[in-house]
Amino acid sequence: MNKDFYNPVEGISRDELRKLQYTRLQKTIASALNVPFYQKAFKALGLSASDIRSLDDIIKLPFTTKDDLRNNYPFKMAAIPLKDCVRVHSSSGTTGNPTVVLHSKNDLDAWAELVARNLYMVGVRDTDVFQNTSGYGMFTGGLGFQYGAEKLGCLTVPAAAGNSKRQIKFMKDFGTTVVHIIPSYATRLAEVMAEEGVDPKKDLKIRILAIGAEPHTEEQRKRIEELLGVKAYNSFGMSEMCGPGVAFECKEQNGLHIWEDNVIVEIVNPVTLQPVPDGEIGELVLTTLNREAMPLIRYRTRDLTRIIPGDCPCGRTHRRLARFQGRSDDMMILKGVNIFPIQIEKILMGYKELGSNFLITLETISNNDEMTVEVELGELGTDNVGDLKDLVKDITRKLKDEILITPKVKLVPKGSLPSAEGGKAVRVKDLRKLF
Ligand code: COA
Ligand code: AMP
Ligand code: ZN
Repeated sequence: MNKDFYNPVEGISRDELRKLQYTRLQKTIASALNVPFYQKAFKALGLSASDIRSLDDIIKLPFTTKDDLRNNYPFKMAAIPLKDCVRVHSSSGTTGNPTVVLHSKNDLDAWAELVARNLYMVGVRDTDVFQNTSGYGMFTGGLGFQYGAEKLGCLTVPAAAGNSKRQIKFMKDFGTTVVHIIPSYATRLAEVMAEEGVDPKKDLKIRILAIGAEPHTEEQRKRIEELLGVKAYNSFGMSEMCGPGVAFECKEQNGLHIWEDNVIVEIVNPVTLQPVPDGEIGELVLTTLNREAMPLIRYRTRDLTRIIPGDCPCGRTHRRLARFQGRSDDMMILKGVNIFPIQIEKILMGYKELGSNFLITLETISNNDEMTVEVELGELGTDNVGDLKDLVKDITRKLKDEILITPKVKLVPKGSLPSAEGGKAVRVKDLRKLF
């Protein structure tokens, strides 16, 4: 196979791109209006599809939030019959009902094509051996990169998350040249390589990394590149927009091209929800343009970023997003897993032995990002060491079931943690090393 995955749409003029977006937006609206949620939202605004006469009219359309998806759990956001849907993904980091995303066959093909396009853009070819260290299953970084790399024709190694020694053995034995990995795990893996006496620059053939799924700094990228002797490209995706493939850095490594044939991009002030000028930081809002099963209109991603003004020297006309600056909500990302403090609170408050004060600390220990949850014992707490050990074990297991990572749980005496005196208690201390 030697298909060229450069899609000419990447270089069309802004005028042509806007025309394409408007045509696709009309299709998206027509399809979204099959969904009772959007029917109601349009009605509430006194809006009909014919009121959207140009791309600029997008600001008349209603927003969609994570809560809207949760309230329509599991399949009420489907715009096509369920028999025409072939896959469902759900994202981590919600309490109660998860957010669910449905895909038709065409949706999956379009998603794989986008991922292939991104990989091709940074020089990945069908001669490459592509290893994926993402969790598979519901994590979209798994199957998303898998099908994209397969479409491109790479020899794929679906290693999945964890087991660093095995990852390194595969890299060595299979001659891995491209890896998808989250930045914090890349540094962890470099450390295990050193422990194993493997010099990535001499003993391995890796030349390209796709890194993403969590915020990281330019310094962190440079460090990863130096440690492993590779080029690392920033990859942005989210389950609600399919997964990876939404935006990706080109070889210039100066911002992520967001594929505007696939989504309409808006950056809004997270409080007023009004658009901010190009170059200013705000919340990223995305409208899908190619999705059959579950079109989303003006989806509030909660991610804070800005448009990098000006043209990219690579010649692609799709605008570039700057490195992500954090979130407009309190979601944390640890080991590539999304977690809200409320998920932890909900579990802790289920124990009569515990008080209501707790503190979550995130830190980098031996290059592994870890979470410690300290929680005060309550009035009914016990001093019996055996009971306490069992309690810690039970809390740890319940937390792992809820947040998908294993925290270290510490029970502390009542009154020893900061409380919410007259305000909101600080629940999260993020001490992670970002270089
Ligand atoms: N990706 C891949 N492996 C990871 C990882 C990550 N983000 N974070 C940690 N690991 C490795 C650890 O190094 C460890 O392996 P090792 O001891 O052989 O070095 C192993 O996974 C278990 O990690 P540990 O920290 O002990 O477990 P945990 O219970 O806290 O977390 C994971 C379990 C890693 C499986 C869970 O965090 C996970 O699935 N992360 C991947 C999420 C993902 O793929 N997100 C989508 C990206 S698009
Ligand atoms: P998920 O839905 O589990 O794929 O998680 C999506 C979230 O991960 C996004 O909304 C971002 O907060 C975060 N994310 C994904 N890619 C990046 C990236 N390249 N840089 C920073 N954050 C990212
Ligand atoms: Zn570019």
